[in-house]
Amino acid sequence: MRIALGSDHAGLALKREVAALLTKLGHEPIDFGATDSASVDYPDFAAAVARAIQTGDCVQGVLVCGTGIGMSITANKFRGIRAALCTCEMEARMTRQHNDANVLCLGERVVGLGLGVCIAEAFFTTDFAGDRHQRRLDKIAAIEAGER
Ligand code: RB5
Repeated sequence: MRIALGSDHAGLALKREVAALLTKLGHEPIDFGATDSASVDYPDFAAAVARAIQTGDCVQGVLVCGTGIGMSITANKFRGIRAALCTCEMEARMTRQHNDANVLCLGERVVGLGLGVCIAEAFFTTDFAGDRHQRRLDKIAAIEAGER
């Protein structure tokens, strides 16, 4: 699967580790920047990743900043994006199973490289459970559409 990746300067190292993991898992990581440690603005990269998913260019995404919070706030402004900020492997598994999260947000300054990669592995090896959870996602989509 094509997976969109984005980070700011504070998430660069973990993004690179996650890209290597995704390749190992047989996915195709597509990096939307940042590309170096110069200070940049996380909304620019969250928007690029969200749009790549909205257009169907990529199936899922990963966004990394210092805390993961700015990335998750931004990504969740985009219709159809279900971005989950995860700090442990259980959250990553549960948000795939129950929320069908399509963007994983990570805080490199919070979880570091080792745990960050383990969280990403849990996220990208867990499937959506469907059933009653789909009904709840339909309600989120209705809220987004202004129907509720
Ligand atoms: C950058 O200093 C920092 O604010 C950013 O990486 C992120 O943590 C924001 O939520």
